[in-house]
Amino acid sequence: MTFAPALLDALRNARHVVVFTGAGVSAESGIPTFRDALTGLWARFEPSRLATAEAFRADPSLVWGWYQWRRSLVHRAQPNPAHRAIAALAGKVPRLTLVTQNVDDLHERAGSPSVIHLHGQLERPRCFTCQREPEAPLPVPDEPDAGRHVTPPACAHCGGPLRPGVVWFGESLPMNAMDRAFEAAENCDLLISVGTSGVVYPAAEIPQVAWRAGATVLHINPAPGPLHGERDFALASAAGVALPALVEAAFS
Ligand code: OAD
Repeated sequence: MTFAPALLDALRNARHVVVFTGAGVSAESGIPTFRDALTGLWARFEPSRLATAEAFRADPSLVWGWYQWRRSLVHRAQPNPAHRAIAALAGKVPRLTLVTQNVDDLHERAGSPSVIHLHGQLERPRCFTCQREPEAPLPVPDEPDAGRHVTPPACAHCGGPLRPGVVWFGESLPMNAMDRAFEAAENCDLLISVGTSGVVYPAAEIPQVAWRAGATVLHINPAPGPLHGERDFALASAAGVALPALVEAAFS
């Protein structure tokens, strides 16, 4: 792959890089995205029946079963070269902040510490009633069926049902994660946005905040959107190809 010299300079000279990831970064690990035609989760499942508090109230075991299926997919998956390139990049620049919309743990398993999870984490369930988290991790299911009903475990404190630790439609993002992500976007020199359709707000604002604050912005996506002028770059490529090649081109 070839890279614009101005992009390589921006990466080599950056004091603070923000990497902002979406479902596309985990696609090559075999985790389905949300909005890719045919393969995306929201092409096959109805969000309002699975990813809202109302859906959980109406049918907790349908919702819990669907998230157990997603946990089991993630558990069987491995980090891909894109996750690993991001972890490696952190060792090559003075400061790197990794912000993800993903609820999987593939960044952590690739060696990225302190990932900011804007949309929660599959492995952080909590009580639907009292919000407490269970003390021990829940066993990982081997759930081959997305539509199977599975009764949520009861909270050890109040007996309420456990819910997935993710942000559902209509819910606010975790305040601390949001503050840290926006603060990093405002104070970075380069933001690399990887594998996101950029349609879910407020997360989708993060690259725009960085760009308005004067940072260079790079989009890595096989189907990138329009660019906004100078300091805005796109690589129309899979993340697992583009990211390792970019790190190699800039630092070897
Ligand atoms: P989407 O499914 O909306 O977008 C995935 C993007 O990844 C698309 O733009 C694809 O073109 C791109 N893509 C696919 N394969 C790729 C690859 N190998 N390398 C790089 N890019 C690739 O997923 P998100 O933008 O993450 O929210 O979706 C945002 C939020 O919408 C999710 O966090 C979730 C969902 O509803 C909540 O659950 C709150």
